[in-house]
Amino acid sequence: MKPPDIEAVGITKTFGALKAVDNVSLHLPPGVFHALLGENGAGKSTLVKCLMGFYPADQGVVKVNGEPLRVGSPKEARRHGIGMVFQHFTLVPSMTVAENLVLARPDLPMVIDWKAERVRLAEFLKQAPFHVDPDSRISTLSAGQKQKVEILKELYLETRFLILDEPTSVLTPQEADEVLGLLRRMVDRGELSVLLITHKFREVFAFCDGVTVLRRGKQAGAGRTADLDSARMAEMMMGEARAERKVGKTRSPGGPVLYLDGIGAVGDSGVEAVKEVRLTVREGEIVGIAGVSGNGQRELLEAIAGQREMTAGAITVDGERHLPTREMLLQHRFFILPEEPLRNASAPRMSVAENIAFRLFDRPPFQKFGFLLDRKAIADFGREMIRKFSVRPPEGELAIGDLSGGNVQRAILARELSSGKVRVLVAANPCFGLDFKAVDFIHDQLLQARNDGAAVLLISEDLDELLELADRIFVMSEGKLVFETTPEAADLALIGRQMAGQRV
Ligand SMILES: Nc1ncnc2c1ncn2[C@@H]1O[C@H](COP(=O)(O)OP(=O)(O)OP(=O)(O)O)[C@@H](O)[C@H]1O
Ligand SMILES: [Mg+2]
Repeated sequence: MKPPDIEAVGITKTFGALKAVDNVSLHLPPGVFHALLGENGAGKSTLVKCLMGFYPADQGVVKVNGEPLRVGSPKEARRHGIGMVFQHFTLVPSMTVAENLVLARPDLPMVIDWKAERVRLAEFLKQAPFHVDPDSRISTLSAGQKQKVEILKELYLETRFLILDEPTSVLTPQEADEVLGLLRRMVDRGELSVLLITHKFREVFAFCDGVTVLRRGKQAGAGRTADLDSARMAEMMMGEARAERKVGKTRSPGGPVLYLDGIGAVGDSGVEAVKEVRLTVREGEIVGIAGVSGNGQRELLEAIAGQREMTAGAITVDGERHLPTREMLLQHRFFILPEEPLRNASAPRMSVAENIAFRLFDRPPFQKFGFLLDRKAIADFGREMIRKFSVRPPEGELAIGDLSGGNVQRAILARELSSGKVRVLVAANPCFGLDFKAVDFIHDQLLQARNDGAAVLLISEDLDELLELADRIFVMSEGKLVFETTPEAADLALIGRQMAGQRV
């Protein structure tokens, strides 16, 4: 089966008063590798959901091989070989890879002949672009492996036009190159078309033939990758040239503030995931923890945040024992920015303003007379933070779950950094999925917190980010801190080997 010819003509999609996609047209002949770019909230996910028949568009038509696609029918899209990997995982964690793949088939009979299915699956996996053990349970896989399974699932369903919505935000650069490289080869062989949504220009130049850029729902530019450079693409995305960075490091670190004294924690599968993590973060210092995803970083953050039992060790802040209770977090001015904030740190159906006020809502000025919540104070505070952190659209009453990925991140950061002086800030992958403007903004906020005297622990899979921001960098591998360096002294090859678990 050849990839289909896809043409979108004049697509418009509104949510209430907001035109999320505004009269956008796009033609993708068979066998292209095309990028869809745009700042957070530009309408990228909404547009591709229209192509997928996931939403009916308000206006416009999607043509597959010249024939209009029936509106609002993902099944119909699937029949034409159109498939999509979403920004968030859709696999069932308690089931195995094989079960996830087989159960995704739309033509599954009432009674499954598992023996026949296994044969069919084994055939498929033999010639599949990446190797994953069909019998492993999804919950035991790293983010990178899960993303590979999501893509395998689409290929198993015979997708010929594959839409990838920021597939690499959970992958390391090496994994991203591997996955995109294998898909690129399928495109070159004429087996597949790919429409890639990404914020990483490096990937656009390495893998894509052409780009389409959205800005505030409208088509803001298009072109062949070969004719463009990153400055031009940034300008199309934002409507202005990329700004110079404003905040630099203005002080050197002071005395110790945060001390992790031999932290241990057990992972979901019952094995020891964090082993005797011991480190100090000083006043006005950013300490980075680098590592490939799945080496205990998530469990470490959860243990620090009190979402996972600490099986060994202790935390002190300014020499005092710290326990992750609400009271102590406030008392020690200890703030946490977890990854995937929509899932881990927000109430999706509650409003943006309520989510921002969350941490403080049971004390004045948000609470009056002991128990009454002051709705107006919450709304006013929300509005101020939305303005300060440029959350879009600037409407506090909107459910936070309806914001685009990048704007959720801004709102949660607003909450964590808004409640006065920060003594300790622990952040995990704070820039996943963010456009470069938001990344610059968040990096400035982290540096500002550091310059104001906060002890910042930054867990990140993005080594470039750590090299730019951190004063000291540790590498975490198999639950342990195995290596320490500074950005100035960093030997990238050596760090890479440490991250890969090769002792040298
Ligand atoms: N179900 C919804 N209800 C209301 N508004 C929505 C809904 N889905 C998206 N929006 C709004 O539509 C706009 C476009 O969102 P979309 O998710 O398409 O952006 P995006 O370009 O994918 O951004 P990101 O890079 O952050 O993922 C945003 O302003 C968002 O708040
Ligand atoms: Mg999106």
